[in-house]
Amino acid sequence: MLEKGRATIVTGVQFGDEGKGKIVDVLSADADLVCRVQGGNNAGHTIWIGDRKVVTHLLPSGILRPEKKVAIGAGVVLDPVVLVQEIEKLRKEGVPIDGSRLWLDPRAHIIMPLHKLLERKSEDSLTQTGAAIGTTGRGIGPTYASRANRNGPRVCDLVHPEHLEAFLSTHVEFQEGFTSEIRAAYAEAGAALKEFVTDVALRANDALEQGARVLIEGAQGAMLDVAFGTYPFVTSSSLISGSAAGGLGISPTRINRVVGVIKAYMTRVGNGPFPSELEGQLSETLREKGKEYGATTGRPRRVGWLDLVALRYFARLNGITDFVLMKSDVLDGFESVGVLTDYVDKKTARSTSFSFGWPIAAKEWEQVEPVVEFFSGWEQLLNVDNTLNVNFRTFVGFIEDRTKVPVRYVSSGPERSEGIWL
Ligand code: IMP
Ligand code: MG
Repeated sequence: MLEKGRATIVTGVQFGDEGKGKIVDVLSADADLVCRVQGGNNAGHTIWIGDRKVVTHLLPSGILRPEKKVAIGAGVVLDPVVLVQEIEKLRKEGVPIDGSRLWLDPRAHIIMPLHKLLERKSEDSLTQTGAAIGTTGRGIGPTYASRANRNGPRVCDLVHPEHLEAFLSTHVEFQEGFTSEIRAAYAEAGAALKEFVTDVALRANDALEQGARVLIEGAQGAMLDVAFGTYPFVTSSSLISGSAAGGLGISPTRINRVVGVIKAYMTRVGNGPFPSELEGQLSETLREKGKEYGATTGRPRRVGWLDLVALRYFARLNGITDFVLMKSDVLDGFESVGVLTDYVDKKTARSTSFSFGWPIAAKEWEQVEPVVEFFSGWEQLLNVDNTLNVNFRTFVGFIEDRTKVPVRYVSSGPERSEGIWL
């Protein structure tokens, strides 16, 4: 699937947690360089290798293949202590990590204690008024705000203690919460990360010019995009594929494939619109069967049917060339499987009555009434001869028909080996 001298984006097309970790791990077998370009340790990518579960938050999933190079681009916001812990943990498990295969862009912004304090304050105050976002509490939003305000520290400051001290003496607000303990931990993390720091944009361009196959690993999902998602219930980075080049520092003309990762049903952590959301026993069954608890915060995920209206919309905004369909096996044994096929206005029952065609304002989201159609379920999505169960095939065909995007891969279980290419 990957081409020489080109970049492929793997991106979530729902609310995150689509199973990107697994598919990036599978695709990275053919990649030379795997990169994270946005978000931070709000992400949690779970990969199963045998009965070993690996969760990465900041390191690209490609880190698990020792012969691959991985990079953290300028668009990422970084908690240095978390990154060092992640590196140490994988090293203990025998994964070789050094400056020859992990590259960290000096332009990435550093999450400071102040950012987490500001986030907590804002969420506490919004909780009082019933408008909390339900963030992961990692300081992601305030760190991106500092970047836009041009007053935040970056990796290039962190790895030179004298730069960081100079920064703190001119940006005194960042001394809040920066206790002597945390200061020491940041100094230690800075020293540990120094060997990885390199101009990732330059290295990625060099690699592409030499014919490398680059894989860009998206975090979160399009419906959480800061501009196009269900604002303000979104994360603080740009997630649609058009922004990925900017998070790494390559030209968009290098990108020739955008792989959209979707789950056969949907989940959402945190607050905000979710038209196909399920309640009651069915939602509990789905949550338990799909182990739908946040990989980062452990929060139970809200669950619902696949939303094909949203999927078509975000497939177009992303220019998705291929879908990979994850976790359909969780629906094995369901008598019937729902899909959301239309949004109608609660009052008028008309299907395209939102003022801009797609609900954008919070008030418009409140007006959305979902139309759900049901398909006959399947006992097991794969027949014994590895062909698709006929009812499952109908379900897949319907997704392709409604979204105009081909489904190329169907995952049939959490492990690397469990899935088939169509
Ligand atoms: P933040 O990214 O921590 O600011 O959280 C903003 C919103 O995005 C919240 O609803 C989070 O639950 C959600 N979110 C952030 N990262 C992820 C992720 O990796 N998977 C799923 N949801 C996420
Ligand atoms: Mg996740």
